[in-house]
Amino acid sequence: IRCQSTSTDEPKTRRNLLDNASNLLTNLLSGGSLGSMPIAEGAVSDLFDRPLFFSLYDWFIEHGSVYKLAFGPKAFVVVSDPIVARHVLRENAFCYDKGVLADILEPIMGKGLIPADLDTWKQRRRVIAPGFHALYLEAMVKIFTDCSERTILKFEKLLQEETLNRGRKTIELDLEAEFSSLALDIIGLGVFNYDFGSVTKESPVIKAVYGTLFEAEHRSTFYIPYWKVPLARWIVPRQRKFRTDLKVINDCLDGLIRNAKETRQETDVEKLQQRDYLNLKDASLLRFLVDMRGADVDDRQLRDDLMTMLIAGHETTAAVLTWAVFLLAQNPSKMKKAQAEIDSVLGQGRPTFELVKKLEYIRLIVVEVLRLYPQPPLLIRRSLRSDVLPGGYRGDKDGYKIPAGTDIFLSVYNLHRSPYFWDQPNEFEPERFLVQKKNEDIEGWAGFDPSRSPGALYPNEIISDFAFLPFGGGPRKCVGDQFALMESTVALALLLQKFDVELKGSPESVELVTGATMHTKNGMWCKLKKRLT
Ligand code: HEM
Repeated sequence: IRCQSTSTDEPKTRRNLLDNASNLLTNLLSGGSLGSMPIAEGAVSDLFDRPLFFSLYDWFIEHGSVYKLAFGPKAFVVVSDPIVARHVLRENAFCYDKGVLADILEPIMGKGLIPADLDTWKQRRRVIAPGFHALYLEAMVKIFTDCSERTILKFEKLLQEETLNRGRKTIELDLEAEFSSLALDIIGLGVFNYDFGSVTKESPVIKAVYGTLFEAEHRSTFYIPYWKVPLARWIVPRQRKFRTDLKVINDCLDGLIRNAKETRQETDVEKLQQRDYLNLKDASLLRFLVDMRGADVDDRQLRDDLMTMLIAGHETTAAVLTWAVFLLAQNPSKMKKAQAEIDSVLGQGRPTFELVKKLEYIRLIVVEVLRLYPQPPLLIRRSLRSDVLPGGYRGDKDGYKIPAGTDIFLSVYNLHRSPYFWDQPNEFEPERFLVQKKNEDIEGWAGFDPSRSPGALYPNEIISDFAFLPFGGGPRKCVGDQFALMESTVALALLLQKFDVELKGSPESVELVTGATMHTKNGMWCKLKKRLT
């Protein structure tokens, strides 16, 4: 790869350094074991001026669905192809681990499911996945509703004050910040029965959670892992803060685990099902894990599991809700259609598990938001052994041989906006998921067929044969997919049941930045007006 820096503002020395490093890598890698794979030729400034996945998209259009990219001290294979994605995520999943992502997240999540090595992952996934059973989800709908109502109540109070003090009928709010608090409250209650109460207050634990998320984001966007240098954790102020934040959360989780173990009621699945789940005081996942499996797991592993779910389930959902209002505010007819569905299914009432399933259009909105703003936009893998990537639909028919240790960026963003699989890929069109799409021109891809996954709650990777990966795919697919989907559906439905939402500024003024998820630079500022009922 030859990286050319084009930015005149960039300090010359940094530019030269980066270019030299890239050129060195170019020479080392070109013509090597990655064989005939196309090579992206990008500008180093692309990596600093805008989120990386935008550049990855431009290179995808230029070089095809599998290409090699080198920058800084690293080289990656970038994949934007459903057939190759299917191979990496499902068909040969155990030939890969989380690579760079595990390096970044391990200090935070330890041996939690996301960064875990394969042996730990196999053991813990078997224990955790059954925790998301139907009765649990049903109990969660109540938590989603209670927490969303708390948020709505806060908005109503703010509106009352605004009307009283200034005679205004609208309030202006950063909905991204509000959704972040809401998602934190929900994940705390759902996973370990802890009420952060962050919609209405601040606390040291809340601050520590945000501090930790902030550091995780910093690490995922900073190219040199200086935090691994032994003294950095003591000398660098942000690393010292990070350690303090982690301790605050860990102490909180340790206390909750201790309490859950002290009140443990040994049970089995049958007894669990006989319980009146909806009326349980504590229906959390922690309760399930301790009651069902508590004896055979150490506290450290349990803490890693909880921390992983806290982080995996918080920002992702908050981001979905944020981009949902961004898109709906620009599409008033779709907002009206959504509100009509809410009025007919819920009226002025509260959602229940059965009613949530009937909110089909809201669900399609959520999945369409995940198509346009996938969270995270890239899935990361590293090959544990050498492998042969299938040719893919536009690639070399013989496929590409990759050596052990190859880092792969699977660009979900590119797949979801690929002009080869979607009509008008950049348009917000929730209805698109209702239409079957065959594409016999694309060898090896089965097309888009909703009947392929009967009874599925949402259009998923099976229906689209890996062209649509809202929650990943294969054995390491998201365990919280249904939780997240129902949570987003409930929160969005309750907001639109009560309010009309407009953007405060122009859509162009909303700047997108990215770490693990896509979010805004300065908040999603919106105007909220009470709906006339
Ligand atoms: C994994 C997306 C919500 C827990 C994943 C993956 C994706 C994803 C794409 C696969 C990552 C990979 O293959 O590298 C999302 C989105 C969410 C969401 C878009 C919200 C809209 C949640 C929630 C929880 C959760 C609410 C927990 C309550 C996890 C865990 C994994 C995971 C534990 C790792 C699974 C494994 O490796 O076995 N998520 N997620 N996620 N997610 Fe989610």
